[in-house]
Amino acid sequence: MIPTPDLSHLTSTDYEHVYEPAEDTFLLLDALEEHAGELKEMAPLTCLEVGPGSGCVSSSVGQILGSSTLQTVYLCTDVNPHACKCTRKTGTQNRTSLDVAKAFIDIILFNPPYVPTLTEELVDAQELRGIEGSWAGGSDGMEITNKFLELVGDLLSPRGRMYLVALKENNIPEIQTRMVNRFNLQSTIVLSRRAGREHLSIICFHR
Ligand SMILES: C[S@@+](CC[C@H](N)C(=O)[O-])C[C@H]1O[C@@H](n2cnc3c(N)ncnc32)[C@H](O)[C@@H]1O
Repeated sequence: MIPTPDLSHLTSTDYEHVYEPAEDTFLLLDALEEHAGELKEMAPLTCLEVGPGSGCVSSSVGQILGSSTLQTVYLCTDVNPHACKCTRKTGTQNRTSLDVAKAFIDIILFNPPYVPTLTEELVDAQELRGIEGSWAGGSDGMEITNKFLELVGDLLSPRGRMYLVALKENNIPEIQTRMVNRFNLQSTIVLSRRAGREHLSIICFHR
């Protein structure tokens, strides 16, 4: 069992502005734990998380890889400035230095705003750069994810993997077929779980 990263430095006030780890976060942590052996063996040089929120997921990868792969560079990018601050603090709290570098990425993590909403709601949420940006996903909940999927083929290293959180309504079979046809990226569903009304899956993409 990999312990959940220590988030005791974050307060309820932080969670008014930043996504609080929830079922989708924990599903992604469980999927990464299930792949812990393979990830350690991979000795990744780079790990990119898009939308880290609290910083919980990248810090968990830091715990999985431990001190055996001190060379891993963790890159995190979030539209929400509060999330960027929290991510930095969570890295420090969990002895994982969350940093910036340019390279092909070995591990990409994305738990996107996946909830289907009106496009206007998504546009407002992205402009506001606040907590609403954690869930508002626009048409089919895919508007942000689709933009990102266009870039993954160029970002991922030859041995790289991307872990994406998706909802049943996001049409996972369509995503998988599109990524094979357009970018020759294969994928597997690592875990699926029902969380309240949501049916969540973790898709792992690789070359
Ligand atoms: C569902 S939350 C996931 C947070 C965290 N990764 C977790 O699993 O607990 C989605 C995160 O994506 C961020 N986000 C939304 N749109 C984004 C964008 N265009 N680029 C980068 N991050 C974005 C949000 O601010 C939020 O922190």
